[in-house]
Amino acid sequence: MTTQVQVSALTKRFGRNTVVDDLHLQIEQGEFLVLLGPSGCGKTTTLRCLGGLETPSSGTISFRDRPVFDADRKVDIAPNHRNIGMVFQSYALWPHMTVRQNIRYPLKVRRMKKAMAEGAVESMADMVHCGELLDRLPSQLSGGQQQRVALARGLVHRPELVLFDEPLSNLDARLRDLVRTEIHQLHQRLGFTAVFVTHDQSEALALGDRLAIMNQGRIEQMGTPWEVFQAPVSEYVAAFIGMANRLPLVRSHVGWQTTTGEPVDIGSARIGGDQAVARLRPDDIAVHRDSTTVPAGHVRLPATLVTAEYGGRHYDVTVEYAGHTLYLKSSIGADGTWVGDLAPGTNVTVSFAPSNARYYSDGSTAVTTSADAVTVGVGVGVGE
Ligand SMILES: Nc1ncnc2c1ncn2[C@@H]1O[C@H](COP(=O)(O)OP(=O)(O)OP(=O)(O)O)[C@@H](O)[C@H]1O
Ligand SMILES: [Mg+2]
Repeated sequence: MTTQVQVSALTKRFGRNTVVDDLHLQIEQGEFLVLLGPSGCGKTTTLRCLGGLETPSSGTISFRDRPVFDADRKVDIAPNHRNIGMVFQSYALWPHMTVRQNIRYPLKVRRMKKAMAEGAVESMADMVHCGELLDRLPSQLSGGQQQRVALARGLVHRPELVLFDEPLSNLDARLRDLVRTEIHQLHQRLGFTAVFVTHDQSEALALGDRLAIMNQGRIEQMGTPWEVFQAPVSEYVAAFIGMANRLPLVRSHVGWQTTTGEPVDIGSARIGGDQAVARLRPDDIAVHRDSTTVPAGHVRLPATLVTAEYGGRHYDVTVEYAGHTLYLKSSIGADGTWVGDLAPGTNVTVSFAPSNARYYSDGSTAVTTSADAVTVGVGVGVGE
């Protein structure tokens, strides 16, 4: 496999603020890499460094074997000589140019002959379902159409590397899913290498061949969507990848337990100290009318109902347990909608299979489990 992008020790400071911090990345040809992380963690800055729109403070960036940035050797190739395409959150179309002229722009900059460029523009516009819109101005397009035009403009010159900065976040939910699928198909069809920035975990899981989870300018975990989803290496990653529930545990002379004394079998997770945290997805917690229906081996917690919101096939349920708020998804099974009929404040029991949780040392982001430690199932919490 050919390495398309090699980033070594990339650092970017704004004044005294280190925004990208000693970042290392290797992206294979044709790979779709997603940078995932919360606002301000340095995703856009990393992308802009790759694109040549931002000058790194130190480090090196190579495309194939060609250095495009090397602080020590004073290499800094201009963006239009890096053979990249860019698609941003704001579509950034030229308002005074037609769709045709917008899409043609990267070819014009590269001095492609007009007749040839015309063919490339039309076939690209067809590929993103904008073939009918070529003579309109951006102001005459919907948001979804504008983003498709921006996509065509980012791909028309068949760049080896395409940089996407949250290209779906200005679209409404339905369009977002649609355009996401289109990007997926375009990637399969055209085979470009992609770096795609988002803070949306479902986008990341759906599109990425690999995910890089960023935390304060560093990569905290890199892996396939499956690896990151199944085994987040730190509590930070767990929280970011949907394990919204945080349950403190304490070590007693008989083993780990909840703060209300329920024993918890943390499997082979190894935690230093006497404080730990269990992280759990809403899907992996079940709600019961009383504790008699909790399966053997599951951890049971006495709780009170805060809200139950109807979601069609399930309820989104919020409960209070020993001063903690827990969120769970309760599927509506054969026994119907009883959760929705409960008054707020009603006593219930919630439970989880201990193997469905991930365990971390409290307050630390370092993981202390062995590679094959706690196996995390993808079970759906059943009503009772
Ligand atoms: N030109 C700049 N000058 C000074 N600080 C900057 C500049 N650009 C970005 N920053 C700072 O760098 C940090 C990282 O910004 P960046 O835009 O890379 O974050 P991000 O992960 O893309 O966030 P978001 O999800 O909100 O887009 C932020 O604290 C931001 O304020
Ligand atoms: Mg950003």
